[in-house]
Amino acid sequence: MNRLDNRLMLCAKMVRRGSRLADIGTDHAFLPVWLCRNGVCPSAIAADINPDPLERGRQTVAAAELSDTIELRLSDGLHEIGADEADDIVIAGMGGELIASILDDCHYSRDPEKRFILQPMTKSEELLRWICENGFAVEAQDCCEAAGKCYTVLRIQYTGLTQNADELFYYTGILDPEQPCHRRFLEENAARLDKKARGDKRYAELANRLRQYCGAPCAENEEIL
Ligand SMILES: C[S@@+](CC[C@H](N)C(=O)[O-])C[C@H]1O[C@@H](n2cnc3c(N)ncnc32)[C@H](O)[C@@H]1O
Repeated sequence: MNRLDNRLMLCAKMVRRGSRLADIGTDHAFLPVWLCRNGVCPSAIAADINPDPLERGRQTVAAAELSDTIELRLSDGLHEIGADEADDIVIAGMGGELIASILDDCHYSRDPEKRFILQPMTKSEELLRWICENGFAVEAQDCCEAAGKCYTVLRIQYTGLTQNADELFYYTGILDPEQPCHRRFLEENAARLDKKARGDKRYAELANRLRQYCGAPCAENEEIL
């Protein structure tokens, strides 16, 4: 396993060189194997809540002859990962709300030295809401396409400054609509808001504001406040 797909590669790029890694919800352990094999991380804990994915991870680690460098650990979120065991923590491939609850349950997530690299599969806006309301800042955010889908990855750090961000920010993050891949992610968010607007008209206004953010004209017959 020498290559990561674009989604995991984007996560890998956000990990700081020299940091000890914890990969939460590791499944095949592709990410920690790549990071340790390529000298980015000196060690890693590959953790999963379920024994079967952990066993798959164990096989990947053994095949890469990295059993001395990467420890496999059964853990619900960060419960079994000590505060002094990892610097950079990746939580990828889960829903935004689950990622937020894993961070919320971790007693040391509010350590400004740590970095959390997060890749929500759904509801990235709920994750961003949690980030803002709980004193974290988005240090980096990027997007990629993999298997025809568009994903975002965020790196966050605790600053202690809680923000009541404009609702729009939960859909834009710090993405730049001038970058085609970012733009695609933002447009997909606008399309999701259109669907929500069928049940609640307030989302129509948000969808239009998001399109304006992208530089596109508003949908016809929609009022902008
Ligand atoms: C879709 S896989 C993602 C694998 C890999 N991180 C990736 O992004 O390709 C999600 C993994 O998260 C694990 N998982 C779900 N909830 C978890 C939790 N609370 N703590 C740790 N692992 C969890 C699942 O068992 C599963 O192996």
